[in-house]
Amino acid sequence: MAFLSDTLARVKPSATIAVTTKAAELKAAGRDVIGLGAGEPDFDTPENIREAAKRAIDSGKTRYTAVDGIPELKKAICAKFLRENGLTYQPNQITVGTGGKQILYNALMATCNPGDEVIIPAPYWVSYPDMVLLAGGTPVPVVGTLENRFKITAEQLEAAITPRTKWFIFNSPSNPTGAGYNRAELKALTDVLMRHPQVWIMSDDMYEHLVFDDFEFVTPAQVEPGLYDRTLTCNGVSKAFAMTGWRIGYAGGPVALIKAMGTIQSQSTSNPCSVSQYAALEGLTGPQEFLATNKAVFQRRRDLVVSMLNACPGITCPTPEGAFYVYPDIAGCIGKTSAGGARITDDEAFATALLEETGVAVVFGAAFGLSPNFRVSYATSDAVLAEACTRIRSFCEGLRAV
Ligand SMILES: Cc1ncc(COP(=O)(O)O)c(C=O)c1O
Repeated sequence: MAFLSDTLARVKPSATIAVTTKAAELKAAGRDVIGLGAGEPDFDTPENIREAAKRAIDSGKTRYTAVDGIPELKKAICAKFLRENGLTYQPNQITVGTGGKQILYNALMATCNPGDEVIIPAPYWVSYPDMVLLAGGTPVPVVGTLENRFKITAEQLEAAITPRTKWFIFNSPSNPTGAGYNRAELKALTDVLMRHPQVWIMSDDMYEHLVFDDFEFVTPAQVEPGLYDRTLTCNGVSKAFAMTGWRIGYAGGPVALIKAMGTIQSQSTSNPCSVSQYAALEGLTGPQEFLATNKAVFQRRRDLVVSMLNACPGITCPTPEGAFYVYPDIAGCIGKTSAGGARITDDEAFATALLEETGVAVVFGAAFGLSPNFRVSYATSDAVLAEACTRIRSFCEGLRAV
């Protein structure tokens, strides 16, 4: 009898966490490493949120709470959905979990049966396909090309839907590309979904607050109210409020689904950390100025990174609408040999040689379902970004055709 489960054989560890760990190891060994792999803001959690957490601890908010969130937080989430997304949810339509990740996981675990298909636009956040596999479903990637700025079209979505399609996972702005769907682009997708009543929509709005220039963030149930009854609108405080370590995510959706997700959570982790829930409550109800300040910093960094990467021979880097990632195409580097003698056969070889020869850690595109590319997280200081891009440029300038 095998000790490890068959389920485990279906999934692989997160490539982004692997790169972050490798970079940390090299750093610990004394190497001059710049990590552009981690998907988290470099800012501290705002002070008012930290203070709220301290007050929660000191006033004894340290016990079990309701499994899927304290009532005050659910109320604040309802208010947030109405204020920012024009969506009306009642508290019994809200669930709170340990990060956005657990919310998505609960939803898939609560609904996927063997043979159920889940459409995932690629490039995708690394965890989506593996979570679908863990839940027993079948991931169906649909690739958004560089020409379409990494977005999928209505025709592609239509062609991917079958009678077995259970979910369509939508993530805008996207990790890893930063691509955001505007209202017209999203409406084209929701029009398709309106014709297929068996398909549910899981909208991962984690990067809602990180959109640049005059881009307007929109979410499916807002653009097409006809989808409200089969949409799970997922969000969290991790990225917007620089609260990645606090582990609070949430969703609004139909009561039966929310209840089912609560059942999964009740038999796995129970309530998300009580103190973090009070901190998230302050994030959602306290001053919101932090969001605009944060966004301006990220926009400046995006512009810096895009212009510096486009100056690298062999690299094409579109300007994304949001998040804190860029996803440069490196077709012009493939097949060459680096100054250190490495053959750049694919994007994984590129990322490995880049790390070894320059100390810059990025995540290779194959992990996200579209190659040859790599992902840069620009959630770090301007000076560090400039140094990293300078090293990437000299690495690219050193590539030779053989
Ligand atoms: C698209 C997307 N969804 C969800 C998450 C998970 O967020 P959390 O840290 O709240 O679990 C991430 C984190 O990287 C993400 O990029």
